[in-house]
Amino acid sequence: MPSYLDIDPHEILPLSLRHNFWTWSAQDRVQPIPVSRAEGVYFWDVDGKRYLDFNSMVMCSNIGHGDPRVIGAMVEQIRNLTFAGPGMATAPRALLGRALAEVTPPGLKRFLYTLGGADANENAIKLARAHTGRPKILARYRSYHGATYGALAATGDPRRVAWEPLTMPGVVHFLDPYRYRSVFHQARPDVTEAEFCADYLNHLEEIIHLEGPSSIAAILLETVTGTNGVIIPPDGYLKGVRELCDRHGILLICDEVMSGFGRTGRWFAVDHWSVAPDLMTMAKGLTSGYAPLGAVAMTQAVADTFADRTFQGGLTYNGHPVSLAAALSTIRVMQEDRLVERAAETGRAFARHMRELGESHPCVGDVRSLGLFGAIDLVRDRTTREPMAPFNGTSPEMEGFRRRLLERGLFAYTHWHTLLLLPPLTISEAELAEGFAIIHDALAHVDRSLGR
Ligand SMILES: Cc1ncc(COP(=O)(O)O)c(C=O)c1O
Repeated sequence: MPSYLDIDPHEILPLSLRHNFWTWSAQDRVQPIPVSRAEGVYFWDVDGKRYLDFNSMVMCSNIGHGDPRVIGAMVEQIRNLTFAGPGMATAPRALLGRALAEVTPPGLKRFLYTLGGADANENAIKLARAHTGRPKILARYRSYHGATYGALAATGDPRRVAWEPLTMPGVVHFLDPYRYRSVFHQARPDVTEAEFCADYLNHLEEIIHLEGPSSIAAILLETVTGTNGVIIPPDGYLKGVRELCDRHGILLICDEVMSGFGRTGRWFAVDHWSVAPDLMTMAKGLTSGYAPLGAVAMTQAVADTFADRTFQGGLTYNGHPVSLAAALSTIRVMQEDRLVERAAETGRAFARHMRELGESHPCVGDVRSLGLFGAIDLVRDRTTREPMAPFNGTSPEMEGFRRRLLERGLFAYTHWHTLLLLPPLTISEAELAEGFAIIHDALAHVDRSLGR
């Protein structure tokens, strides 16, 4: 049988550019990598150039590329039952619900399947509003919750601003506990962790009071902020947010789309602080990119809101059996290969490499990591902490840095003045060292360009 992918590999790029419209891009400036195959922590382009994937493709390929166990499970599911409607009970649905209940924090008992992270957050917002009968959602400024209108409204970063004012109403934003750039502590950068934490909880409490606690349905936050710079909350912060929620009858929604599924060295980032949210959203690592899927985990109390009342919501492909099979087998691979524990172990070597970057390069202002979730803050000047690129912008130095990483075969994500590092959890110490050697080289180049 002839392959339906009958194309000269060198035609992939020009033909793709001719007929397709690209997300997050000015169409005349896109430069897609024509990818031909991927395996483990690497992928290759059509010319055979190998890239070490330090971004897990889109921060999602947690178990690495091309795992035959997941591919096998998907093929088996395609053969048995390729599709069933969202209202039908299927074998992967039965098994995935149970598997998720085992790995998510206690209290989360029911799972609504979505197509990805954005609609998981939108559904979580609907559930919280319906459960509490209140309209407002509090979310943070340095957050990303997805690109559909509701998720964009919750997003705090400038990706929201592009579509305002016609996004979903009812969201109020507050500040993130971003220690390196804390606006409250510019004159006191050595503030204690406890005081720092208390200041940000006081700020949130003030906003709750000013907005009127009885109008607030939920506080939505990325447990560990992702694209906006891997902002790790100080100890006590999440517990404090949970207490504020409990005091005012507000639900806590944790967005674990990026931080979930072993990324931080625990199944979910909330596990580091033993906080149980009322709703938790996930996607990305849920299937490790093998198929599109998101989910909303909820407590029985939230689910019970709809015991006798119809939940008005759903999409044709919610609970697609092939995606559910991918998720189920991804979880099994993570368990069989102890990938969560492995991420915690490799995370120690990762943190050491990050510290070394900080010690060796004047252009590195701060390094942060938890498990295999890391970010480097690049600065022009360590004393003033002036970022290497302006807010919501880029700079010749950041562009050159990104190009050099790619040229040397390292695929990683730069966001304004930060470099995000999220390799697959399967990465070996030798592969980590290979990646960090390339980052050292590219940072040395930035240092030289600044005359250091
Ligand atoms: C924290 C977070 N939430 C939500 C989303 C949106 O997920 P999706 O792109 O699957 O809609 C993302 C995507 O990057 C994310 O990082």
